[in-house]
Amino acid sequence: MKEHIGTILLSEDEILNRVQELGRQISDDYRGQELLIVCVLKGAVIFLSDLLRSIDLPVDIDFVQLSSYGNGIESSGKISLIQNMNMDIQGRNVILIDDVLDSGLTLDYLIKTLQSKYPQSLKTCVLLNKNRVKATSIKADYVGFHIPDEFVIGYGLDYAGKYRGLRFIATLSKNLYYSPVNPHIAE
Ligand code: IMP
Ligand code: MG
Repeated sequence: MKEHIGTILLSEDEILNRVQELGRQISDDYRGQELLIVCVLKGAVIFLSDLLRSIDLPVDIDFVQLSSYGNGIESSGKISLIQNMNMDIQGRNVILIDDVLDSGLTLDYLIKTLQSKYPQSLKTCVLLNKNRVKATSIKADYVGFHIPDEFVIGYGLDYAGKYRGLRFIATLSKNLYYSPVNPHIAE
């Protein structure tokens, strides 16, 4: 399994420090109010658990799940809702959190969906923002780190359902991308 891990981009300490900073910033921005965090499954769950514990406010959580990358490293561009949220967001302060802002299609889709339910406010928070041309004009309100346009794994982010449990964030080994024994990956 180790040979699939490329370069380590963010260490466990760097991630935790930055997530705690985000938590303090969010706590300051919403002082005296209650929050509902809507977490995009599955990649953002570890980010959620650390962020939640860094916010000094009453916070409730809910989840949505969208169609994912499947086993590849490129988005199909098609998004569909697999699991909708349970809670009524009308009149609430909502922060939508995701692991990574890549093309922007996921957040674009979710912002439209959530806005139509009349939250009092809606902001977005992503752990990672990839430096690449986005398919949409979406910008997240809170960003943990800006990273190069490479496929990354760890801290909740998976490749083919694996590596979510890594404590750090690393690039996917280039060998894996182009390996002739994994021809499906290059599709
Ligand atoms: P977007 O819709 O292209 O912005 O993609 C966002 C979603 O794609 C994220 O929620 C992730 O699930 C997935 N994704 C994008 N880039 C990566 C990556 O480098 N590693 C793992 N998942 C990724
Ligand atoms: Mg995701």
